[in-house]
Amino acid sequence: MLAIEHLEVDIADAPVLRAVDCVFDKGRTYGLVGRNGAGKTTLMRAIMGVLRSRSGAIRFDGADLTAAPAHARLALGFGYMPEDRRLVPDITVDDNVRIPLLAQGSSDATHLDWAYSLVPEVKALGQRLPTLLSGGQQKLVALARALVAGTRVLLLDEPTEGVSPLLQQRIRHILSEVSRSGAIVLIAESNAKYLSGITDGLYVIERGKVTSG
Ligand SMILES: Nc1ncnc2c1ncn2[C@@H]1O[C@H](COP(=O)(O)OP(=O)(O)OP(=O)(O)O)[C@@H](O)[C@H]1O
Ligand SMILES: [Mg+2]
Repeated sequence: MLAIEHLEVDIADAPVLRAVDCVFDKGRTYGLVGRNGAGKTTLMRAIMGVLRSRSGAIRFDGADLTAAPAHARLALGFGYMPEDRRLVPDITVDDNVRIPLLAQGSSDATHLDWAYSLVPEVKALGQRLPTLLSGGQQKLVALARALVAGTRVLLLDEPTEGVSPLLQQRIRHILSEVSRSGAIVLIAESNAKYLSGITDGLYVIERGKVTSG
């Protein structure tokens, strides 16, 4: 179980997350819905340990991760797909997908094989450079990279934003397969309609405050 307890995060001395409490159970998929600037990305970055909290706690299976660095999350199986993809432009698609393994010094291909089994279209693009792909294809590459890391907790920041309706459908199908793996999946979206049929639980975020939906 992943638990966020009374988490407060400031950016540039301004409060952004305010007393956030939420709980995520294994094998379940959750939505995090809120309009622009509500704090969705900030919460995901705090869970990943990229942003420090002012107070509150982040616990995973009883371990206190609040002060743990980002790489400790990676070692625990936390994966994150940022809203702006952040692919490395001058290395191949396959090398991008392998970044989480490289970061952990791991040569175990199990997670890579799992990611490619879920998104085989990315494996087919393996030797291309990401800059030569469409925005939608780049989104799938970022998803595959997040899957390589996120075998236990997978955070996806607006995964279907700006992609064609057909690809949105494909991404939703992939995510429904992921949820059967036993991982915790958290999907941030600005509109709950993109989550219909794939989430077990919903949190709503409004000006940095989270309520269950
Ligand atoms: N680098 C930053 N500097 C200053 N303020 C920031 C910064 N990043 C985020 N904020 C502020 O924090 C608040 C939450 O932003 P955040 O990016 O988490 O929202 P979001 O829900 O992800 O929005 P969006 O739907 O636009 O992605 C906003 O009010 C934003 O202005
Ligand atoms: Mg955001």
